[in-house]
Amino acid sequence: VAIQREAYSAPAFWIDTVDLCFDLDPAKTRVLNKMTLRRNPDVPAQALRLDGEELNLARVLVNGAGTSFKMDGDKLVLENLPEGTEPFALEIFTTCLPSKNTKLMGLYVSNDSFFTQCEAEGFRRITYFLDRPDVMASYTVTLRADKAKFPVLLSNGNLVEQGELEDGRHFAKWVDPHKKPCYLFALVAGQLVCREQRITSRAGHDHLLQVYVRPGDMDKTEHAMNSLMASVAWDEARFGLPLDLERFMIVATSDFNMGAMENKGLNIFNTKYVLANQATATDVDYSNIESVVGHEYFHNWTGNRITCRDWFQLSLKEGLTVFRDQEFSQDLCAEASARAVKRIEDVRVLRTAQFPEDAGPMAHPVRPDSYIEINNFYTVTIYEKGAEVVRMMQTLTGRAGFARGMKLYFARFDGQAVTCDDFAQSIADANPESPLATLLPQFKRWYSQAGTPRVAARGEYNADAQTYTLHLSQSCAATPGQSEKQPFVIPLSLGLVGAASGAALPLHGTGSAGENHLFVLTEQSQSITFDNVAEEPVPSILRGFSAPVVLDFDYSDAQLLTLLAHDTDAFNRWEAGQRLALRSATAALASGTNGPVLNAAYVEAMRAVLRHPTLDAAFKELVLTLPSETYIAEQITLVEPQRIHTVRESMRLQLASELHADWEQTFADHQDNGAYSPDPLSSGRRALAGMALNFLCLAAVASGDALWPGKTLQRFKDAGNMTDRFNALQALVGSGHELAAPALARFHSLFKDEALVLDKWFALQAGAPDRGGNVLPAVRQLLAHPDFNLRNPNRARSVIFSYCSGNPGGFHRADAAGYVFWSERVMELDSFNPQVAARLARAMDRWKRLAEPYRSAACEALKRVAAKPDLSNDVREVVERALAD
Ligand code: ARG
Ligand code: ZN
Repeated sequence: VAIQREAYSAPAFWIDTVDLCFDLDPAKTRVLNKMTLRRNPDVPAQALRLDGEELNLARVLVNGAGTSFKMDGDKLVLENLPEGTEPFALEIFTTCLPSKNTKLMGLYVSNDSFFTQCEAEGFRRITYFLDRPDVMASYTVTLRADKAKFPVLLSNGNLVEQGELEDGRHFAKWVDPHKKPCYLFALVAGQLVCREQRITSRAGHDHLLQVYVRPGDMDKTEHAMNSLMASVAWDEARFGLPLDLERFMIVATSDFNMGAMENKGLNIFNTKYVLANQATATDVDYSNIESVVGHEYFHNWTGNRITCRDWFQLSLKEGLTVFRDQEFSQDLCAEASARAVKRIEDVRVLRTAQFPEDAGPMAHPVRPDSYIEINNFYTVTIYEKGAEVVRMMQTLTGRAGFARGMKLYFARFDGQAVTCDDFAQSIADANPESPLATLLPQFKRWYSQAGTPRVAARGEYNADAQTYTLHLSQSCAATPGQSEKQPFVIPLSLGLVGAASGAALPLHGTGSAGENHLFVLTEQSQSITFDNVAEEPVPSILRGFSAPVVLDFDYSDAQLLTLLAHDTDAFNRWEAGQRLALRSATAALASGTNGPVLNAAYVEAMRAVLRHPTLDAAFKELVLTLPSETYIAEQITLVEPQRIHTVRESMRLQLASELHADWEQTFADHQDNGAYSPDPLSSGRRALAGMALNFLCLAAVASGDALWPGKTLQRFKDAGNMTDRFNALQALVGSGHELAAPALARFHSLFKDEALVLDKWFALQAGAPDRGGNVLPAVRQLLAHPDFNLRNPNRARSVIFSYCSGNPGGFHRADAAGYVFWSERVMELDSFNPQVAARLARAMDRWKRLAEPYRSAACEALKRVAAKPDLSNDVREVVERALAD
């Protein structure tokens, strides 16, 4: 049954203090929960209804005496509580079964250690509680466990006492000095070691930072610790937000449904986002770790100090915190070019994952109106689109203005559970003259309306009058439950590039000095005229991707080539190349001819980029990367995934052969990068060298030449870091060369004890380019591999998600076998971990756009899953929305 945002009402009781005592035992853990509560005087007197799930209830005492209670479904209902608003004591004794907890929500066991995951609604699996984020309490936690098996006992806040108990047991007592909602509760117990770092803040306070891992993983903790120190320093420098705890801990676990969790003072992370050394982690892993460590740390203020009133406000903390982690990573880049690269990467994620979500059956506003299962709303819309909404607020108020808005937000709401409206109002109120303030109600449509707006632009140059007029209009397609959309506030960063000269033209008549103008589109249609435009310009619109929209402008090839060669905005320079490649792909798909897809001008432009003397390697790699199959599919109405795959592969082959000598030169120029460091410059060089090898192997397979595959195998063997090694392996696997098999075998034997590296090994094979339907049989074999384990989410994702979501050419088969495989895995996963199953279910979101025979086969597979009688709410919500019309 769906929960409605409008149905919010304040809790009938407040919980002021919680004293939890755990007797930890994997088979049966005993939890004694002593709370003080009081009635909320603002709400009519009523019974106390506590959430609980899979708990065994042993005892309930009110003010120390037995009391009557009843069960209403999962809820524990107490009707005879003391009247009046005086605090009273409630004591609840329950047990739970951590070793049988396969959902990985609540208290569970992983590799013989205890971990918790409470967001969004996992705390109710630990004890009966008001499991909602607007109930904030002070926590004291005592952990008791066998000392030999569980030497480390951690919870939120400060360690105030520890000692021995009889029978080889010991205890630790933790007090969290900050009030918090229960979703931020955490405990960890097990055999762990930690890297420690003492730091002193700008304000002169001392803090202890710790990163806890399993004993063999200490040599992979340095980067996470460096990232944490950089995060602490950045939040203090950029936003004046210091660490508010004496001790801040990160703990890694290899069984985790998501990326990481910001529990107060005790962040719990998927090992994937903690562990790295140069032998086992790639540059991408290093950069993800930096982002995720930053993200969870930044939640300490945006999420923990100020939290969400209800889960419809999830983007209040997630959108804002993604924005903050994106800014953090950009600010860590010394070079402007590296910042642009980071921006392009972030936009690529938004457009390949969020735009399809916004156009599909699961489309929802950044602040949703209803949900059945909240876990299904930890989405790219809430996170990444939410971050773009915050970014637009910064664009409309300026960097200093936005920082002022953040200050006001904390001044108003520190320690409270609030709404997205409260945040937007704070940023606007701190900048009363800004367009954000004057347009606030309209701006907030970004929170309430789902769907990706389209901006259509048309330009008119009057050579006699030397004026250039841009005519702009906006629209937004209907989404489920929202047929009509009102106009959005769309900040458009604009510039003009001389069509003949390639020069950046001054923008007269706009009120903006210089070469950049921020035009705020608010009406359905508007125009802007530039004066004294001395030559015919090419408009550069939506610079830096200043709003999460699709821009339609009927550029000629020549205009795009001008932008690609000359635009001073790196984002639009990259975008021009993407548009050129995309139009070649869609033209080939529409015409169905088998000739070369890319025209000579495009290939020459790519050659010029590769040879460019000053462009960054990282930027070149982005420009030379063709739009993904998923992104191409989003641009057309009747999708034939196999044909898209074939067309894109032929584009790749064309770049490989026509630029062959340039790839050789590129590899020669970028292969040697000295001692390993994951900085943006050398990462970019490794990425470009890896791309060169990819194309050289591809060309070699086509021509039957053995030179480059041999060299690639040698590089694979000699590599001094995982990035170079994996790129070489990928080049062999991606080209389908026969040397791929021995290289894969060697890789496996080298890294058989490194779980995260084995995940890469599985993922690479499940995501390999399909050749005559060979991937699905390989995937089925991988599932039978002794190292495969469906219960481990990382391993399940590495094979199943890499195939079903990451390999459209291999997944969408005319014989429907890919969809059958999908439905089997969704149902299998759903029987023990609905959250992971529901993520996998999303792989079919865009089924309605498929051509036959795919479409009917996909529909049948969805119906098969929907027909399963004991389906979880998680999967049911996803498949029923997919099947709805
Ligand atoms: N708040 C966490 C983060 O973004 C994500 C937790 C999601 N958990 C879940 N069960 N859906 O950092
Ligand atoms: Zn988050």
